[in-house]
Amino acid sequence: MYTIICVILVSLLIVKFNYVKSLYWSVMFVYKPSNCENVFEQKGEIEDKHVFLAPVKNMLGKRTINESIKYEREGKIEGTFPYQILKLFKGSMATESGERHKQLRSVFLKYLCPTKISNFYETIEKYLQIYIINNGVPERSVLLQRELRNVTFSVICESLLGEPIDEEYTSWMNDFNELTNGIICIPIMLPGFGFYKAEMARRRLQRKVEKYMEERDNYNEFLEEVAQHYTDKESMAKCVLGFIFAGFDTTASLLSSTITMMLQNDYIEKCRNDNEMIKLCIRETLRLHPPAIVVTRRVNEDIEFLNKNIKAGAILNWVPFDNGNMNGISREFFPERYLNERELQEFREWNNTHIQFGFGSRRCLGMNFALKEAEYIIKRIVSVYDIKASKKLELYRCPITHEKNYLPVVLKKCKSISSSSNSCSSDANSI
Ligand code: HEM
Repeated sequence: MYTIICVILVSLLIVKFNYVKSLYWSVMFVYKPSNCENVFEQKGEIEDKHVFLAPVKNMLGKRTINESIKYEREGKIEGTFPYQILKLFKGSMATESGERHKQLRSVFLKYLCPTKISNFYETIEKYLQIYIINNGVPERSVLLQRELRNVTFSVICESLLGEPIDEEYTSWMNDFNELTNGIICIPIMLPGFGFYKAEMARRRLQRKVEKYMEERDNYNEFLEEVAQHYTDKESMAKCVLGFIFAGFDTTASLLSSTITMMLQNDYIEKCRNDNEMIKLCIRETLRLHPPAIVVTRRVNEDIEFLNKNIKAGAILNWVPFDNGNMNGISREFFPERYLNERELQEFREWNNTHIQFGFGSRRCLGMNFALKEAEYIIKRIVSVYDIKASKKLELYRCPITHEKNYLPVVLKKCKSISSSSNSCSSDANSI
């Protein structure tokens, strides 16, 4: 029996695990930046790996991004995601391709475009009030990361579905936690394994979304679009689940990393009444702690990439993390660097307007939504509270739900809060 299980596991490893090791390396790069630096110094901008049957290239540094944008336009490489995401989110945007993918992108981009974002401020404010602000207590200790996850989860659900999921909240959240864990575990579909649990959670969630939609007489704009482009409830639910997943922990991770960096580097006070500084802090945090740890592409035909021949079938795997040595700008948290024209230029070249959100034809559809939401939430929290870390903060990027990421803080109401600075509309207008 034991031998059979081993044979099955090894076969699974050989056939299915093209992405696992490359994902592991990417996690290691981000988790421990010096790994990235060492590899870069020894091997240059492209690090070769061969993961069982698939060659994997870990791409480091800014030149690799510029080259890949060109190849993507020519159709020589195309968007893909790590195995776990492809499997668990089959039927979502992540697994669409070709003309249909293009068409769906333009449909959903309309819903998430910058001019529409202000529609969501009221929802963001509502959940900020529930989970963080409107507590009445002048001083309290909280695990801020947990509350931020509650806010971003509630916001994305209500913004996409049109109504809150009130009674079902805990059961949706628990299932999403299981599902998220599945993304970062070894994909073994056997009872007891994390990946299996994630698949079960996905099925439960799918039924919940289907039920939610069946119970509605009218859909909001987003669900209307989904209904027009997907033929049945099952595929509609898969699409919706993909969006909720894409927009929930990513934004919560950006928020908790940014607040951690602000606390560690004394930027809370500097950001009070300074929206520009908040934006710079978010940008600097994205550079050092990108929430999505890999941007992945499949090579469709043989290409030459920075003097290296890369064969069709290879997986390219960007680590959207900038360690100082690779790009000339320093590893320390210093948001003001973007006020310096030269550094800004250097950053732009590397970043290609936010590689942390991917690039080209698969670039994140929710980038504007996430950035505006993060700006709004940080502005509101620092305008209402003095924040102090309860203990020395660490930043473990993977997984976001790691105990060390809980962000234990004391929130103390600022003395100078006027009733207007507490109101939703005044803040929404100023962002
Ligand atoms: C800080 C927050 C976020 C980060 C860092 C992030 C990052 C990413 C990345 C790296 C990709 C892959 C891009 C590529 O392969 O080129 C992606 C795709 C995607 N993201 Fe986001 N994302 C965030 C928030 C959101 C939000 C709020 C939504 C929805 C409201 C969203 C929806 C999507 C969708 C639908 C895709 C798939 C696009 C496609 O396949 O064409 N994301 N995101």
